[in-house]
Amino acid sequence: MTNLAMELTGGFGIDRLDLQERPVRDPGPGEARLRVEFASLNRRDLLLVEGVYNPRQMLPIVPCSDGAGIVEAVGPGCERLRVGDRAVLHFFTGWLSGEPDSAKLATALGGPGGDGTLQQTLIVPESALAKIPETLSTEAAATLPCAGLTAWSAVVDLGGLKPGSVVVTQGTGGVSLFALQFARMMGARVIATTSSDDKARTLLRLGADLVVNYRTNPDWARAARDGAGGPIDLIVDVGGGDTLEASLRMIRPGGTIALIGVLGGAKASITLPLAVMRQVRLQGVTCGHREGFEAMLRGIDRHGIDPVISHRFPLALAREAFACMRDNAHVGKIVVDLR
Ligand SMILES: NC(=O)c1ccc[n+]([C@@H]2O[C@H](COP(=O)([O-])OP(=O)(O)OC[C@H]3O[C@@H](n4cnc5c(N)ncnc54)[C@H](OP(=O)(O)O)[C@@H]3O)[C@@H](O)[C@H]2O)c1
Repeated sequence: MTNLAMELTGGFGIDRLDLQERPVRDPGPGEARLRVEFASLNRRDLLLVEGVYNPRQMLPIVPCSDGAGIVEAVGPGCERLRVGDRAVLHFFTGWLSGEPDSAKLATALGGPGGDGTLQQTLIVPESALAKIPETLSTEAAATLPCAGLTAWSAVVDLGGLKPGSVVVTQGTGGVSLFALQFARMMGARVIATTSSDDKARTLLRLGADLVVNYRTNPDWARAARDGAGGPIDLIVDVGGGDTLEASLRMIRPGGTIALIGVLGGAKASITLPLAVMRQVRLQGVTCGHREGFEAMLRGIDRHGIDPVISHRFPLALAREAFACMRDNAHVGKIVVDLR
């Protein structure tokens, strides 16, 4: 069997990604080898390839953090999984439960934690894998580790929602669509923003109660607040520099802004009293732990949530997959097929 990997070798940039054959080794004690059948892209993977995520990243590196496939071999002492099981990778391989700390956060796949999922085999601690529920395809499972768990942590674990709560999501990227789906699962009303009336159709199909186009409507924040039908309890903020001030103005006193992304800039100028005087919770979210990941898999299984897959590319065309994300041509997740 081949073990092809798409790796960055000579420098950063989408056009520096190259297909290489890599050696395969047997898993050691406590390790499992996954035959990665599908990977999916996250914004951080694009930023890593472009040299923005960590300009000092050592090369070569295989990018991407999300993947799922079949357990091909297990080392001594492995008890949770068997050869032949379908399994999905947990993003922070060393954050199993509890609060984050620097050591746990240093275990992110496809970055500080080492090579990522754009390769046909990957050896990880067995504890970094979760079984895929019967109702979920391997391809769909591969969309979940980073974007899915981030949205789950923000909406289900940290969002403080009750049935009938109001949630605002921004854009139609991976995190935002999962946030919309989980908020609907929790019985919340969802106001979603997007840059495109065409993309808005997907938001409405997923159950958004109102969609506001922030490109054609300069007063989109007011339109979202006026159309919310009640105080806004949670905003899933992925715009960062572009959107945080608007989020602060929209959120109800005591509400939560989940700080997740910086698509519109990593620095923000904000009116602090809006948070201080109204007891707004600014909640950073960085993916989550394996306990949450397994809870999310159970939730998706029970509620029949279907991840939105926008584009599919074979491994050999991974450069085009990254270009698709760079151009914001996608709605939901971009999948790479490694079979
Ligand atoms: N903290 C974490 O654990 C974590 C985990 C995953 C991702 N993230 C971060 O969350 C953000 C989203 O990640 P993703 O993987 O979901 O990205 P993505 O799939 O690439 O999402 C991109 C989409 O977001 C929308 N968008 C772009 N710029 C925007 C802006 N300035 N304001 C509002 N919406 C904007 C666009 O949708 P429309 O055209 O529909 O507007 C665009 O197509 C990134 O910054 C990423 O680094 C953080």
